Amino acid sequence: MRSDTLTMPTPEMRRAMADAELGDDVFGEDPTINRLQESAAAAVGKEAGLFVASGTMGNLLGILAQVPAGKELIADDQSHVFLYEGAGTATLGGIQVRPLTTERGVMTRSQVEAAFRPKNDYHQPLTGGVTIENTHTALASGATPAEVAAPADTVTFCVSKGLGAPVGSILCGPAEVIDRAARWRKMVGGGWREAGVLAAGGLQALEKGVDHLATDHANARTLAEGLSELPGVRIDLDRVQTNLVIFELTSMPAEQFLKACAERGLKGGGGNGRVRFVTRYGITAADVQRALEVCTEVLAG
Ligand SMILES: Cc1ncc(COP(=O)(O)O)c(C=O)c1O
Repeated sequence: MRSDTLTMPTPEMRRAMADAELGDDVFGEDPTINRLQESAAAAVGKEAGLFVASGTMGNLLGILAQVPAGKELIADDQSHVFLYEGAGTATLGGIQVRPLTTERGVMTRSQVEAAFRPKNDYHQPLTGGVTIENTHTALASGATPAEVAAPADTVTFCVSKGLGAPVGSILCGPAEVIDRAARWRKMVGGGWREAGVLAAGGLQALEKGVDHLATDHANARTLAEGLSELPGVRIDLDRVQTNLVIFELTSMPAEQFLKACAERGLKGGGGNGRVRFVTRYGITAADVQRALEVCTEVLAG
């Protein structure tokens, strides 16, 4: 339960990958990649899509294709772009990230408006873009992915995490932006050849993977509710809206708890005194019950 990046392809997905129709994508001739890009763009209501190796690459190319060097990109201070992408925007794009201090990564409208730089002050950089990170609450809110993505010019999402494909993300947006992103992708060495074998997994993820997200969310809720009844656990159930269960411990350090859980076969993640468990395809309701047993045992010392 460390991460939803650990999902394994389903047997059906493996078969689809083995049988995928292939071509050289640098020539635009891989029919499976082309299908994935079209389906992904349609799913988020955008004109075009670009299959890329990772979420990090999708974010990077989306930014490079839209924000000129020397400008500033507004981001939340807990976002992946700011914290975990190796300063790629600064290194490759000459773009400065302006992190806004947020509660749980949610920037408010007034915060973003206030962060826009004035155009008449030559001392300051100009604002070149805003990046917003959103977890898969579409499901929890009842909104469609296209509705969630509508206010954004481009959107990156991963098929490799909760949706279950082994590799890949898709950057979607207007055709001319995606064309510029494709040029950047080639420059950073991300031009695919017969990668339809990977895209076939992505197509299965889009077609079938969404169905089990609801199960993952239900499993997370069961886990959170079970944890809330254990002594020494502090958890805000209102904050458990997706497949992420984050909690604090009052009776032992999180690191000690995680080590004891791991010794009993339950791996979690965490940091800053918090523990994180993630439900995903491959984690069943029975696994959740077993996890609760392990937590009970560990907390009882
Ligand atoms: C919110 C978010 N954005 C981007 C990424 C990057 O994805 P990748 O690991 O495929 O580069 C992750 C990965 O864990 C993520 O959680």
